Amino acid sequence: MCHPREAAAYQRTPMGRSLTPVNTEVRASFTRANTKFEVHDARHTVTRNGRRADFTTVWQVGSGAHAAGFLVNISGALFQSPIAHYPAKKLWDVAPGYQALDHIDFNRRITPECLGCHASQQSGKLAPIDCDRCHGDGDAHSLRPSKSNIVHPGKLSSFERASVCEQCHLTGVARIPQPSAKPYEPGRKLEDSVAIFVQPAKDLKVVSHVEQLALARCGPNLWCGSCHNAHGEKVDIDAQCTGCHTERPRGHAVEGCPACHMPKRGAVDGLHTAFTDHRIAKPGPSVPFEPKLRAWRPAANAQRNLGLAELAVGDYANSFRNLTAAYPRHSNDSELIGALGTLLLMRNQHADAAKLLAGHPQKQALAFKALGETAKAAAALERAIERDPLDETSYHLLANLLPARRREILERYLKRNPAHLATREALGLP
Ligand code: HEC
Ligand code: HEC
Ligand code: HEC
Ligand code: HEC
Ligand code: HEC
Ligand code: HEC
Repeated sequence: MCHPREAAAYQRTPMGRSLTPVNTEVRASFTRANTKFEVHDARHTVTRNGRRADFTTVWQVGSGAHAAGFLVNISGALFQSPIAHYPAKKLWDVAPGYQALDHIDFNRRITPECLGCHASQQSGKLAPIDCDRCHGDGDAHSLRPSKSNIVHPGKLSSFERASVCEQCHLTGVARIPQPSAKPYEPGRKLEDSVAIFVQPAKDLKVVSHVEQLALARCGPNLWCGSCHNAHGEKVDIDAQCTGCHTERPRGHAVEGCPACHMPKRGAVDGLHTAFTDHRIAKPGPSVPFEPKLRAWRPAANAQRNLGLAELAVGDYANSFRNLTAAYPRHSNDSELIGALGTLLLMRNQHADAAKLLAGHPQKQALAFKALGETAKAAAALERAIERDPLDETSYHLLANLLPARRREILERYLKRNPAHLATREALGLP
């Protein structure tokens, strides 16, 4: 009502359409490995060895600028359909990450993290990314409009300004929530809520624009908002470049700067899509980088967070060293305790692992199993299933642990997810 121009323009941008109702006038089909995939309006069907699984998709995630994924609701939880749309190539194919699998199912959970970057919650309901995500809570502002009770991202100082976009455009290799921190809000520094760890690599990832731009030699004054208007207004990018680069090599091109300095490349974790290289380099050999794991910016609880990030990237020796050293200062920190438990499990220190993994019943079960304590392992897996009745892995672990009850256990899972192909196959059901 108050900013009709910004609101209308924003709703047409890809971010304003990050989550949309499913287009119900499509027909498509394709085959991957031994599996046939069909799209019929909102219905997605997967057929393998004569078994069919049908699901009705409820949301499209991704405006389709590059790729669109689809969400299905299974017993009250959201899953990603293995089928995705790649509009630029006018192609339907499996979603990124599924191309290497030969037993594809509807079993990829949509986590709160996915929704945190792709959607907003409005009165408990899912909605596309909304104003609050960049401008902060607008309730007070709409009652008594004033510049002092709303965030203007463009006027924040540099880390706070960068944080607004980084909350979603910087995945790094690990995002470690700070212990008992408030969720991030625009106007603050991201690292006060989530510490991000990066490990530069040669290849582009889908969500790595922030990391790439930081490798550009153009300096800290260049931020996302220099070349992108969140409200979809066109920005003259050449003018941005020439504003700083008043001198260029003799005979140099005078326009179309991104075509040569920000070329399109494939991303290692995107399928059938090309992204813009934000490293703004001279064309030619790739930009040098150091593949070292590091915190994006200095933040509190540095050693704890580094240890957790090392665990996430598989550097177990350093993770164990840092987490044991940080433990005395964080002895009530459930993340850290769970991570230490996981490391002890990997070091075959099963009795100690079982103690620390009380909050992670599925892993605790592995420790009990290794100790030969079958009843305790089964009880832990039942706890994992009680917490998350759609936790496929726990049912399968339980079925392996108790072979005599295998059929009954897998049937329990099938009650929750009746179309699940692999479980039907395992039980010899049609
Ligand atoms: C709440 C998460 C979130 C925040 C905050 C966010 N983005 Fe995005 N952004 C996304 C997602 C998700 C997409 C992909 C949208 C799609 O196509 O579905 C996207 C797409 C984009 C695109 C490509 C599409 C286009 O409009 O050309 C640009 C550019 C972009 N964002 C810039 C920014 C900038 C600049 C900021 C900070 C001012 C920002 N974003 C903040 C999540 C976010
Ligand atoms: C840290 C924030 C973040 C998280 C977590 C995240 N995404 Fe994204 N995702 C993005 C952004 C930003 C883009 C847009 C990238 C672009 O346009 O370059 C994107 C792109 C996509 C796309 C379009 C891909 C493409 O190739 O264009 C899909 C589909 C998608 N994400 C699904 C998911 C799913 C499913 C999850 C959870 C498993 C997830 N995302 C987790 C931020 C995130
Ligand atoms: C992805 C982040 C993002 C989202 C979402 C977003 N904005 Fe913005 N908005 C910005 C940025 C960044 C600026 C500052 C642009 C600049 O400085 O050039 C801005 C500027 C504005 C301004 C202009 C302030 C001034 O300078 O006078 C208004 C008004 C505004 N936004 C309203 C909205 C409304 C209403 C919505 C929701 C419909 C919305 N914005 C959603 C990022 C966002
Ligand atoms: C805020 C000012 C600013 C803007 C805007 C800017 N640059 Fe730069 N750029 C610089 C500075 C400063 C350097 C470093 C110069 C040096 O080290 O001699 C640089 C370096 C470069 C280099 C050399 C990189 C290398 O590998 O040595 C290229 C190429 C370049 N910029 C291209 C661009 C292009 C293209 C744009 C627009 C898309 C752009 N710049 C926008 C300030 C800027
Ligand atoms: C120097 C200019 C410049 C800056 C600064 C810049 N971008 Fe871009 N960005 C571009 C250009 C050019 C494109 C390609 C646009 C097109 O093809 O229409 C692009 C495209 C994108 C896209 C669409 C996907 C892709 O890769 O093509 C996203 C998402 C994006 N930028 C995010 C960001 C974020 C986040 C930041 C801040 C970290 C940022 N950009 C900073 C120039 C810039
Ligand atoms: C047709 C491709 C092309 C276009 C378009 C282009 N450049 Fe370049 N640019 C190059 C190449 C190739 C080099 C390396 C040339 C060299 O080192 O002598 C370069 C080098 C540069 C450098 C680094 C100079 C140095 O050695 O320090 C800057 C700055 C630069 N370009 C800015 C721009 C700007 C600004 C634009 C848009 C007005 C632009 N370029 C458009 C191809 C292009």
